[in-house]
Amino acid sequence: MPTTATLATLTDSDRLTDANWWRQASVYQIYPRSFSDSNGDGLGDIKGITAKVPYLKELGIDAVWLSPFYPSALADGGYDVDDYRDVDPKLGTLADFAEMSAALHGAGIKLIADIVPNHSSNRHVWFQEALAAPKGSAARDRYIFRDGLGENGDLPPSDWDSVFGGPAWERITEPDGTPGQWYMHIFAKEQPDLNWSNREIRDDFLKTLRFWSDRGVDGFRVDVAHALTKDLTEPLIAKADLSEANSGTDGFPDGSHPFWDRDEVHEIYAEWRAVFNEYNPPRTAVAEAWVHATRRARYASPEGLGQAFNFDLLQADFDADEYQAIITRNLAEAEATGASSTWVFSNHDVVRHATRYGLPQVSKGKDHAKGQDGKGWLLAGGPEADLDMALGERRARAATLLMLALPGSAYLYQGEELGLQEVAGIPDAERQDPTFFRNKGVEIGRDGCRVPLPWKVEGTSFGFGDGGAHLPQPDWFSSYAVEAQDGTPGSTLELYRTALKLRRELQGAEELTWHKTGNPEVLHFSRPGGWQSVTNFGDTAVDLPAGTVLVASGPLEDGKLPASTTAWLR
Ligand code: NOJ
Repeated sequence: MPTTATLATLTDSDRLTDANWWRQASVYQIYPRSFSDSNGDGLGDIKGITAKVPYLKELGIDAVWLSPFYPSALADGGYDVDDYRDVDPKLGTLADFAEMSAALHGAGIKLIADIVPNHSSNRHVWFQEALAAPKGSAARDRYIFRDGLGENGDLPPSDWDSVFGGPAWERITEPDGTPGQWYMHIFAKEQPDLNWSNREIRDDFLKTLRFWSDRGVDGFRVDVAHALTKDLTEPLIAKADLSEANSGTDGFPDGSHPFWDRDEVHEIYAEWRAVFNEYNPPRTAVAEAWVHATRRARYASPEGLGQAFNFDLLQADFDADEYQAIITRNLAEAEATGASSTWVFSNHDVVRHATRYGLPQVSKGKDHAKGQDGKGWLLAGGPEADLDMALGERRARAATLLMLALPGSAYLYQGEELGLQEVAGIPDAERQDPTFFRNKGVEIGRDGCRVPLPWKVEGTSFGFGDGGAHLPQPDWFSSYAVEAQDGTPGSTLELYRTALKLRRELQGAEELTWHKTGNPEVLHFSRPGGWQSVTNFGDTAVDLPAGTVLVASGPLEDGKLPASTTAWLR
């Protein structure tokens, strides 16, 4: 297993040229529209990020992952891309991007861009050309168009559902005004799926990878990396015969699903790898691929994208057994592929972990990302009466401190360093997420974790910008503001800063040794160099092993480790 030099011994510029920088990086996800607004239009922007580079440096992260910042009508928060090689004018310009990239690099921070290859937006010039062109044309062949079923073609080509609810097909009106063909969209209807059998699409994305790599992008987060290649041989398979896999979260173990996780997708990533390796250090990539556990390794292989997200901890209860099994399995998998492991508790698609962990634990295997039983447990009047915010925050801090001691990359989501909770009470009229609109009354959607960050205790939009916030911020945001936590002993922000700094100093080889604790609710492991992490998942305080406590996720009780607390020792 490759060892990296202790990060603390590297200067900012060494860190930027180290080809292994990503293996154990702490990566901070910025959802640009909700991070910091420099011009007071209510939307976060690129200049807003540049202004916060000192904050990011002080936080101690190694890289920023920027969610889509491309021109977009925001039908899906920017994952509906109008132009892959430009910056959304609402967010800034290419010159602003260059300035941000230089500022991040100047602070020793790498830049990872989100790339969205499965679908463009319906406003992309290609899709507009496809609508204007006749059936069977080269322009239509960039997407997935089919005739409808039934006498007049007015039934969709299959009964497949989109991930966001409703059918996965939308009918168009032909240029002569008659009802026409249907196009496939696994997500919203504003996100038509691209046809990756078309060489022009493949070549154009290679151009896009070089475009951003030439502009300071060090790596890519690949959106729905497992959906690009499709087998749409007719007749299309009925939904009932796709069963589980149609949810997109489990996948077929044998690559036989018509659009999720087909083997041919790896031919694309081999071509991408060749582009990444044109650069020094090589550009990196991490796959967002919700696939069967046995099939994740291929996305993470060095011939492919190099790393893949594992969302196992994100879906786990706060439970010692579950954590230990997940960690052991994923480290073994990483060792077998040569990739490093990835860990994540929160991102822009799921209920924040400080809130998830304050709700009644759900039985294993439920969809935590959407909520209990996938129903969205934060619906107004729903079971949020059961929410214990203090417990959630306590467990989230313990979970994060444990995660930051693991070998591999840790992915953090903006606001979690403040212990932010999900915002539940967003009025329907102010919601933006297409999942909400396509599943009214069933799923509440993802807006609650995308509310603009509070920087100041008071003032317009708590310091997010001078012009309000594009999603409403609750009053309680004030006490979570950066200003309230900066320099405050025991605050979540100071915990993250301390832990991230120590992580850099302590990190060595990607190895972990478990130690017996004699208590099934306590996990104890060590890393090379004597760095130890102990987590108490139980309800009563326990003795700590020998060593000096370096940091703890909450105050110790008479020298003991309290319930729902992690400590690092050496
Ligand atoms: C995954 C992204 O994380 C999510 O936010 C988006 O809605 C879908 N992919 C579609 O692009």
